Amino acid sequence: MMRYPVLVPDLPTKEQLLPWLAKIDSNRWYTNFGPLVQEFESKLARLLSLDTAYLATVSSGTAALELALLSYDLPKNSCVLVPSFSFPATATSVKRAGLCPVLTDVDPETWTLTPEIAYQVLEKNSCSMVMPVAAFGCPLPIETWDKFNSDTGIPVLIDAAASFGSQAIGTRCSIAFSFHGTKAFGIGEGGLVVAKSADFIKKIRQLCNFGFDGGVIARCGCNAKMSEYHAAVGLAQYSRWNGIVKQRQSLLQIYKHLLKNTGIEISFQQTPERYIPALLPILIPFSNSLSTVIDSLTDHGIQTRCWYSPPLHKHPAFIGDKTIPPDGKAYLPVTENLSNYLLGLPFHSLLEEKDIVYICDVLSMSLNGKK
Ligand SMILES: Cc1ncc(COP(=O)(O)O)c(C=O)c1O
Repeated sequence: MMRYPVLVPDLPTKEQLLPWLAKIDSNRWYTNFGPLVQEFESKLARLLSLDTAYLATVSSGTAALELALLSYDLPKNSCVLVPSFSFPATATSVKRAGLCPVLTDVDPETWTLTPEIAYQVLEKNSCSMVMPVAAFGCPLPIETWDKFNSDTGIPVLIDAAASFGSQAIGTRCSIAFSFHGTKAFGIGEGGLVVAKSADFIKKIRQLCNFGFDGGVIARCGCNAKMSEYHAAVGLAQYSRWNGIVKQRQSLLQIYKHLLKNTGIEISFQQTPERYIPALLPILIPFSNSLSTVIDSLTDHGIQTRCWYSPPLHKHPAFIGDKTIPPDGKAYLPVTENLSNYLLGLPFHSLLEEKDIVYICDVLSMSLNGKK
């Protein structure tokens, strides 16, 4: 393992988990919407200031996306507008729900698909749904997306996989979160669907339980229920949440301060105040070669990651799908630049200030052309 890994999951210790595991032992209830899942959902609802009728836990963020897409009951092969700059599950979930992803560009400041981009694409193309992504956990402006939905009538599902705790819940859009081990609220594997419609959430609960509705299968679903063991990790993680948020925000401040002091023109994703960073992606100046910088950091024991490279429209599974730049260009310029120059730096709870100083020094040397 590298001396400075890019990610280290921050999950509860065995001591923090033990009281919850003891409850499972005494309940002898292991899955199927058990008491720990119910308690976890109540706590999540409290964190989001919602009634539990408006959310449902599932087995992963990908399951949350697939089941939410199915719950809109769109005709087969309907087009869903998604950003090409995203993790593959954004588009795989669209295809697995029997729909067609239409890939477009993102905004150069927030690195997300904005309502303005969606309006531009929709001027000349029709899509039945829009699925913007809260890239790297950057929360999306929910009032603007709610307004987009009420003005156009087009349903909006937000892929907020890495944005639990930052992404505000509006009134009209549905939202899918991930609790994957690498997320700020990590529990190993898990997901959550939030929607201000109890009927929508009821559909998610049925679809994640094979499609059962009153003892019969009204519609084919799958098994994507959250187990009691994952809820146990979630409940232990809930007690650590305020500390996790503070630490992540403080690490980001230290990084930003030190990177700005290098004097090199590094760009950060533009994020709002309530952002809880999941990762640390930066954009290096276009005059640099990303692979040379990565090699130099690797030589110093610093692991890096290139998210999301290749972008979705270059994966074999999506090459035949429609790619529509918002302004009539032949390609997706912002997505291309991000995938050529974005560098993910180590970002996790084991980092101390001295480690960040070292990482920023090495990066600065490398960007200045020194080994
Ligand atoms: C944008 C995005 N969507 C969906 C997912 C899938 O979430 P999960 O790993 O919980 O299935 C991820 C996972 O990292 C993601 O980053």
